Amino acid sequence: MSNVRRLLPSILSADFAHLAQQVQAVEQAGADMLHVDIMDGHFVPNLTMGPLVVEALRRSTRLPMDVHLMVARPQDWAEAFIEAGASAVSFHVEAYPHWHRLAQLIRKKGALAGIALNPGTPLNWVESMLEYVDYVVVMTVNPGWGGQTWIEGCLEKVRLLRDWIDVRGFEVLIEVDGGIHEGNVAQVVQAGANWIVAGSAIFCAPDPAEATRRLKQRILEGAG
Ligand code: DX5
Ligand code: ZN
Repeated sequence: MSNVRRLLPSILSADFAHLAQQVQAVEQAGADMLHVDIMDGHFVPNLTMGPLVVEALRRSTRLPMDVHLMVARPQDWAEAFIEAGASAVSFHVEAYPHWHRLAQLIRKKGALAGIALNPGTPLNWVESMLEYVDYVVVMTVNPGWGGQTWIEGCLEKVRLLRDWIDVRGFEVLIEVDGGIHEGNVAQVVQAGANWIVAGSAIFCAPDPAEATRRLKQRILEGAG
């Protein structure tokens, strides 16, 4: 599991007036999954999209969709996003205390279950959950917007998590989300990340397909 490496463009920074074309461009350029950021204006101060967008994308791409729920009541939404076509759904530990229950529900409905941590949340919050989830999302920015500068200190959490997983033999993937670009992606890979999210580094680049190819190459090289 530790040598799995995937690039997940985050559509948050895409041009929503041309979403299908943008997604198809990154798909052809080698993106592995799409990262879809759901914000409710409560858990984070921004508002984005609902299941309808996932359902529409499902018809426009073959890429699996990873839905990142940055919402105050993830228990109300996980199922709807899976029905809309999500293959993986993560929710925040800060938002909802019954992690095990929601992770089980997500898995039962046929998706991978992920648990996400804000930069200020200690890693040991999720220690007892590692055998019950498929992935842990280590946020390297405070969730809410694309295009922020990463908080490099959060990489220490990725390293520690990689150690826990490898030493104890858990089958959990590590997703890293926020502020990742060509200049720092090798560090993220070396820290032990499996799923690497990049929004503005791809969709704010002059050529998102080219940016996807370059990042993917860095990820594969960085893996050694
Ligand atoms: C931040 C979101 C991220 C965001 C990443 O709240 O969860 O997924 O889209 O965008 P960049 O890569 O621009 O930081
Ligand atoms: Zn995200």
